[in-house]
Amino acid sequence: MNKFKRTLVTTALPYANGPVHIGHLAGVYVPADIYVRYLRLKNEDVVLIGGSDEHGVPITLKAKNEGVSPQDIVDRYHGIIKKSFEDFGISFDIYSRTTNKTHYDTASEFFKTLYDKGEFIEKETEQYYDEEAGQFLADRYITGTCPHCKSEGAYGDQCEACGTSLNATDLINPKSMISGSVPVLRKTKHWYLPLDKHEPFLKKWILEEHKEWKPNVYGQCKSWLDMGLQPRAVSRDLDWGVPVPVEGAEGKVLYVWFDAPIGYISATKELTPEWEKYWKDPGTRMIHFIGKDNIVFHCIVFPSMLKAEGSYILPDNVPANEFLNLEGDKISTSRNWAVWLHEYLEDFKDKQDVLRYVLTANAPEAKDNDFTWKDFQARNNNELVAILGNFVNRALVLTQKYYDGVVPAAGELTDYDKETLEAIPEIVKKTEEALDHFKFREAVKEAMNLARLGNKYLADSEPWKLAKTDPERVKAIMNIALQITANLAILMEPFLPFTAKKMQKMINFEGKEWDVCGKKELLEAGHKINKPELLFEKIEDDEIQAQLDRLAKTKEDNDAAAKEAAPAKENISFDDFTKMDIRIGTILEAEKVAKTKKLLKLLIDTGIDKRTVVSGIAEYFTPEEIMGKQVSILVNLAPRKIRGIESQGMILMAEDANGELIFVSPEKNIKPGSEIR
Ligand code: MF3
Ligand code: ZN
Repeated sequence: MNKFKRTLVTTALPYANGPVHIGHLAGVYVPADIYVRYLRLKNEDVVLIGGSDEHGVPITLKAKNEGVSPQDIVDRYHGIIKKSFEDFGISFDIYSRTTNKTHYDTASEFFKTLYDKGEFIEKETEQYYDEEAGQFLADRYITGTCPHCKSEGAYGDQCEACGTSLNATDLINPKSMISGSVPVLRKTKHWYLPLDKHEPFLKKWILEEHKEWKPNVYGQCKSWLDMGLQPRAVSRDLDWGVPVPVEGAEGKVLYVWFDAPIGYISATKELTPEWEKYWKDPGTRMIHFIGKDNIVFHCIVFPSMLKAEGSYILPDNVPANEFLNLEGDKISTSRNWAVWLHEYLEDFKDKQDVLRYVLTANAPEAKDNDFTWKDFQARNNNELVAILGNFVNRALVLTQKYYDGVVPAAGELTDYDKETLEAIPEIVKKTEEALDHFKFREAVKEAMNLARLGNKYLADSEPWKLAKTDPERVKAIMNIALQITANLAILMEPFLPFTAKKMQKMINFEGKEWDVCGKKELLEAGHKINKPELLFEKIEDDEIQAQLDRLAKTKEDNDAAAKEAAPAKENISFDDFTKMDIRIGTILEAEKVAKTKKLLKLLIDTGIDKRTVVSGIAEYFTPEEIMGKQVSILVNLAPRKIRGIESQGMILMAEDANGELIFVSPEKNIKPGSEIR
């Protein structure tokens, strides 16, 4: 480490098309934060860079679906994401975004430099174009029949049934997923980064010079390099992104994976006018924290870009994590199978450190891992409460009780005392070693071993039994317990920053640095400590059950939605449609139809007249709550007798697969009788 003067730590920029969940935290942000807090405590020059990735096709589609602009979408989620990271103590030096001006300038300039140096290849190809939507289609947004296994629903980049990777032009019967129309081929020109040209360099740099990278990262790089690299397009036909800054590139933007990693550079620029020392001085060690799906971009594509530019350093390490699953299933934003960070904090207020702890102790470092609520509860109750919380509380409460909060002098020590004290620096050393090698699971386990040591020491020494008979002995025991507590208050800071701060306050031991760790006399005799408070509390079964119930409900909803996708009915002519006379009406009166469960008798002001309609909605609405409501009513439905009452028309309702009913009401009040067409 001494060959470096400073460290630049980057974290994958999350897409600003949804909030962040536990998978993000476990895979990238908690480990990066632990690492950076550790280096800061060691007084090293380090910066933590982050930001939102605000380009890409999914953001444009979400905007289209909601009828808002892509900027509206990214503004919304950038705010939510940034807040979640703050709430969980992810200590960014800057959390930026890729729609700001600095980034547009930086990304544009970067492209221009490579362009001027002749580092791109220009190619004209034929690509699918959706004439109805008026846009070129990314491969993922085309489906059709797989040319290999003939199964339907293959995507333009891959068939999920047989696993073959495809080109969109290979698909049989291609269909646009955006408009459903049949796409046509159109000529288009793009710029490509010739990765094949950089392959010999990459092979040497990664396979020979970075054998120390994590096996999952090294292995993935090796398999890419063994397969042989191809030129990659770095531009797209799209109207959302950084415009390609050369002539003849109208309607084209930089590919999101070209501009996003440059976001690390832009953010550093915003952070400090001295940004170049972080990016261009070989005395800087750059570390990218990412998830496994980002490996190729950070180990192969971005380094090729940096190398081609010529003035930048390359990453020293890329400690990518595998994926975190949730209760046995892949986390999915679209299926709402996730624990969202902002929702977690509503249910578990002020328990950021509990989640940080569980996600670190169970981090998907070497393989995919599962988050379960039972494990969450067990780790809280059996480790944080029973070991760390219990030890610290005992040590501090007894100090208050016996010595009024003043640290006693140790006096004479037994062999067991000495052994215990000597174990402290060993634990610290093991923790450091694990941290230095990005082994955060191991590191937090070691740190916890210090609390285990303290807990066992107190349990074995039983000062509470000696208080009357051997006060000198009790002083020694309590002194040692307090030294362990002070060590814990620093050692835990990278992992549990909120708890560590509380501990430091309680023992009146703030503003210390990492190098005090391992020492036997952190708190001198006579030092006064403050009133203790509990660090953790037990999480009860019903709190866990509530989370499991919520997930079960999500599963049900998803299953129902899957069943629901009933095919559309047969086409009708426009004339058929205009035969229906649908109006806005106001419910004037409502009452239950005697001896029925489902029926309400309604009096409706249709604007034409006031009439009676019988409607099967009594299980969902009480008469009181719908009085005065505006609804849609089919007024020219032939009258029918229902339970002896003549029903003159029909109220329109929307019904989901679970049979849940809601009214189809105008967005704001409008005159009764207004026609719907
Ligand atoms: N937005 C990407 C993702 O969530 C990560 C981008 S990382 C960066 O997978 F390097 F491009 F910034
Ligand atoms: Zn197939």
